Amino acid sequence: MAHVTEQNLTDVVLERWQEIPDPRLRQIMQSAIKHLHAFVREVEPTGAEWFKTIDWLTRTGKMCTEKRQEFILASDVLGVSTLVDAINHRVPTGATPTTVEGPFHVADAPERGNGENMTEGAPGEPLFITGTVRGLDGKPLAGAVLDVWQTDGEGLYEAQRDVTGPWMRGVYRTGPDGKYVIQTVAPIGYTIPMDGTVGELMNRTKISHMRPAHVHFEVKARGYNGVVTHLFRNGDPYIETDVVYGVKKELIVDFERKPAGRAPTGESVATPFNVVRYDFVLLEAQAEKLRGAA
Ligand code: BEZ
Ligand code: FE
Repeated sequence: MAHVTEQNLTDVVLERWQEIPDPRLRQIMQSAIKHLHAFVREVEPTGAEWFKTIDWLTRTGKMCTEKRQEFILASDVLGVSTLVDAINHRVPTGATPTTVEGPFHVADAPERGNGENMTEGAPGEPLFITGTVRGLDGKPLAGAVLDVWQTDGEGLYEAQRDVTGPWMRGVYRTGPDGKYVIQTVAPIGYTIPMDGTVGELMNRTKISHMRPAHVHFEVKARGYNGVVTHLFRNGDPYIETDVVYGVKKELIVDFERKPAGRAPTGESVATPFNVVRYDFVLLEAQAEKLRGAA
């Protein structure tokens, strides 16, 4: 083995870490070592700074439980979650883009009929979200499933409320014409959890810790690739500075504010309400396979 010097150390380590039978793991470790060494060479941390980094990582790990994942939050605010998502969900123009899932999805949301209210009495101004789910060729998709979750009009998710039943979430299905109607309340922007190690770091920056108002969706249809995505409220003060870099221009929608009157469900609403119109466009699973092979 070569005796190490500051100059040759990276090459010595890279050579040692060639000895990995799994080629993908070898590729990942080679790249990780190259970038990590380059980072250390550029920053030249003091010993105290390096121990502080290790301490931050240790405390971040200790914060993680079944209900809280501080490492994912760190990946979110550094844009890594969005980058991994983008790399893994490249879609052609016209197809609905994906964005990060976030930590607030709860499995097994209640089934709701088309037009049913999913708020369970949550505060906020009424909102109707309606449109079709269709393929890239325009074909409406009957029986597509939309799993929907969001904050209420005070910016809180079910996990942040003292509620026992489902809160602000539901599973809708499109009718034979591919149409769906969701009855909910308008979400507002909210802060990511700031009481952990990520908050500690964010508080040493001038970066906004807010997410713009949005509604989360997982949309699936037989024979098509599902999408996990959000719709974001146009004009939200945080639309340009989403702390997790989730906003894509195709996902920004107008919340049309209407006076009291007839809603898209056909019922009469006694207060002003909002309407969002959005068509989800899914990619046929087979088309995706062919694109990958091309
Ligand atoms: C969310 O949209 O729910 C979310 C996403 C990433 C971090 C925190 C919250
Ligand atoms: Fe969210």
